[in-house]
Amino acid sequence: MERADLLARCSDEPGQITRLFGTPAHASALRTVSGWMKAAGMTVRRDAIGNLIGRYDGGDHGGSALLLGSHLDTVRDAGRYDGVLGVLVAIAVVATVDAAGRRPRLPLEVVAFADEEGARFGTAFLGSSVLAGRFDRADLSRVDADGISLEEAIREFKGDPAALGPAARAPASIAGYAEVHIEQGPLLEARGLPLGIVSGISGQTRVALRFTGVAGHAGTVPMELRHDALGAAAELTLAAEAVARETAGLVATVGQLSVTPGAPNVIPGAAELTLDVRHPEDAERTAAVTRVRGCAERVAATRGVELSWEALHDEDAVRCDPRLTELMTNAARAAAGTEPLSLPSGAGHDAAVMAAVAPVTMLFVRCADGVSHHPDESVAEADVALAVDALARFVEDFEP
Ligand code: HGY
Ligand code: MN
Ligand code: MN
Repeated sequence: MERADLLARCSDEPGQITRLFGTPAHASALRTVSGWMKAAGMTVRRDAIGNLIGRYDGGDHGGSALLLGSHLDTVRDAGRYDGVLGVLVAIAVVATVDAAGRRPRLPLEVVAFADEEGARFGTAFLGSSVLAGRFDRADLSRVDADGISLEEAIREFKGDPAALGPAARAPASIAGYAEVHIEQGPLLEARGLPLGIVSGISGQTRVALRFTGVAGHAGTVPMELRHDALGAAAELTLAAEAVARETAGLVATVGQLSVTPGAPNVIPGAAELTLDVRHPEDAERTAAVTRVRGCAERVAATRGVELSWEALHDEDAVRCDPRLTELMTNAARAAAGTEPLSLPSGAGHDAAVMAAVAPVTMLFVRCADGVSHHPDESVAEADVALAVDALARFVEDFEP
């Protein structure tokens, strides 16, 4: 818990927790976590994009290792446990193994992924996509709010854009991937349970839209002659919300909106917004994205504004591996002394990307009021202790 508090101080914004990919705050968190990994008996390295990887040697099973971990980056004005908890619990488990003086059945690796949220460059899972061999080199030319490209940011962060391909792990080198994460939802608390087992992870589509209208004088242009870009964006936002409300299990969110020129007495000439659409079933999600795109096109046509629609990333839904899920369920039941709840994850996780190269399982920890992506994010120390115990049992029982 103290370590989570310490990492919370590694922030790019004073007074809040914002730790984006490749920033000084991220570098400071890597140095701190690297020290904890070494203290737990691991050798530590950084890969070509800046994932931090601690390795604890174990018996040889054809060179495969059991990977544990989560992400170190955050959203803006974040809580202190999203991602961080999974890295810290994994390190605590390896420290327990080290203290027991027993070599684990196979090598253990703890991965602190460099960028899961995609808060700086818009595309998520940059860290795990490199490890899973799914990094899209076209993303290297994406720029952040200051016009710095991902390629430059990787270089500044002492990574190597040219070595992102070879940084991919061969599926044979990963016997399994287990991620501990706060639930970021209200179900465990509602059921009075400390731990949950993730059955599957919803797929997600992230889109960047831009409506380009005509800026004008707020006092002189009559309403019927306007091509108001913000009016279009507002209409689309409500249309996306309506589509989601009508479809069971669908969520749609416009999280970012910027208006230019952004003056009180100027009709907005342009509006840029992001759309995030998710559903446990991929067909439902893609149908909903198509519907919202149709709405956007109709709004643009009616208002005489131009629409640009850029898919930032698509992540299919993932089922967690049945064998690892059963192992994790047994471990959580033994640790907590209660039947853990099996539940889907509406939030995306690195496990969804790692599923491309390894069987994955996730253990959820109850979080207060289900709050996340917010400074009020909190977990109970007792629940975290149970998560450490459960993951330690999982590691003990895991066989490739
Ligand atoms: O957006 C998500 O679901 C995750 O926090 N990246
Ligand atoms: Mn998150
Ligand atoms: Mn997360």
